[in-house]
Amino acid sequence: MRIEVEFVTGNEHKFRELSEALGNAAKLRWRRQRYTEIQADSLEEVVVHALREVEGDAVLVEDAGLFISALGGFPGVYSAYVHSTIGNRGILRLLEGEEDRRARMVSVLGLRLGSEVRLFRGEVEGSIATSVRGTHGFGYDPLFVPAGCTSTFAEAPELKAKLSHRKRAAEKLAEYLLSLTR
Ligand code: IMP
Repeated sequence: MRIEVEFVTGNEHKFRELSEALGNAAKLRWRRQRYTEIQADSLEEVVVHALREVEGDAVLVEDAGLFISALGGFPGVYSAYVHSTIGNRGILRLLEGEEDRRARMVSVLGLRLGSEVRLFRGEVEGSIATSVRGTHGFGYDPLFVPAGCTSTFAEAPELKAKLSHRKRAAEKLAEYLLSLTR
């Protein structure tokens, strides 16, 4: 028996990526709804707050961010705001002349089943490209090159499907959901 979970997100890319990553571990439904994304110090706090606001018996929310080493982890929890203001080209400007281009993408999935809340964190290490590259995916994908690779996530969606922060968080979630039905 597969557990049915509603993924609450306004982002269709996230829904598609997570559905694929979860495979048969759950029946994922898309609830296209926005909720308050508080300004907090961690993705976890944003997710826990969102789960308090979103109604339903089996719901899932996600918060993600890009953490750039040379910028002290910025934009991090400010990733959405920074992307909608200065965008990918703004990030490239901030890193102009910077040799250390290491970055990490992080996804925190929050699941509430009944009254129980669980968080699942996934991370991928990589670097920031020197130009915007590729047309697939969304957000910072045209900038992010996973470690050991040469393409950005936006150039190679198959890499994103295999290695992404969301995929890694989804693997933990899948394991948990499957353990409930065993
Ligand atoms: P949020 O989780 O929707 O708040 O995402 C924060 C910011 O990171 C937004 O600007 C998203 O577009 C971006 N973002 C979230 N997930 C990804 C991803 O998988 N790839 C690239 N950018 C992402």
